[in-house]
Amino acid sequence: MSVHSSANIKRITTHILQEMKDRGEKISMLTAYDYSMAKIVDASGIDIILVGDSASNVMAGHETTLPITMDQMIYHASAVVRAVSRSFVVVDIPFGSYQGNSSEALRSAIRIMKESGAHAVKVEGGSEIKESVARILSAGVPVMGHLGLTPQSIYKFGTYTVRAKEDSEAAKLLEDAKLLEELGCFAIVVEKIPADLARKVAGAVSIPIIGIGAGGGVDGQVLVVHDMLGITQEFKPRFLRQYADLQGVMMGAFTQYIKDVKSQDFPNEKESY
Ligand code: KIV
Repeated sequence: MSVHSSANIKRITTHILQEMKDRGEKISMLTAYDYSMAKIVDASGIDIILVGDSASNVMAGHETTLPITMDQMIYHASAVVRAVSRSFVVVDIPFGSYQGNSSEALRSAIRIMKESGAHAVKVEGGSEIKESVARILSAGVPVMGHLGLTPQSIYKFGTYTVRAKEDSEAAKLLEDAKLLEELGCFAIVVEKIPADLARKVAGAVSIPIIGIGAGGGVDGQVLVVHDMLGITQEFKPRFLRQYADLQGVMMGAFTQYIKDVKSQDFPNEKESY
């Protein structure tokens, strides 16, 4: 089996993602929030594009993911969907639009699907949101779960450190993963948890487990695209592998441009009409 055996697939579906887990092919996932970036990410052959509510941090400069609104998520998601022809597009339902009220959860999921054209939604939490998850699934909308460090609950945790190091939290996380599978979720993201626990979760459920800061024993990996490209330089957790220094490349281009404008080197005759 080639490690790139999903490369010839025309359009990734939940069914294909499940087959990938079943045959041991790792699933690749990155975030994107706009058309131009999504076009490149899709063309690279990424399996899943997540329109994460990390847009709140990365695109809007907020400290947390809490302020981003449904309208803003739909704006980002529809731009990404317009760019994508192969990847499976998952959209975060923003904070306050699904917790505690399953009718609102359903309305939110339907708005995202209808107005953006995305393929699935993602929600954070386990047993606390089971009614919402079940209600969204009942409308035929694929749901991805998210356990471990769930950034929408940052004010409950108080810190972005590793979750589920204690036995009781680890046991709840495992139970929540089983519950999300039982409810019908097609995959679960596990964020910043011990690698041994993540491996155990991936072995205990049959749906794909996608990790971020959760070690290599899971079924796939996700990173925030601006972090892995080195556009954001201030966020460097241990789990992040930086694949490029785009901040350096961009700075070089911008400073050269400034020099060229000031020295009147730009535009030259060929660049003029
Ligand atoms: O919003 C996001 O980018 C996420 C990933 C970190 C999984 O939820």
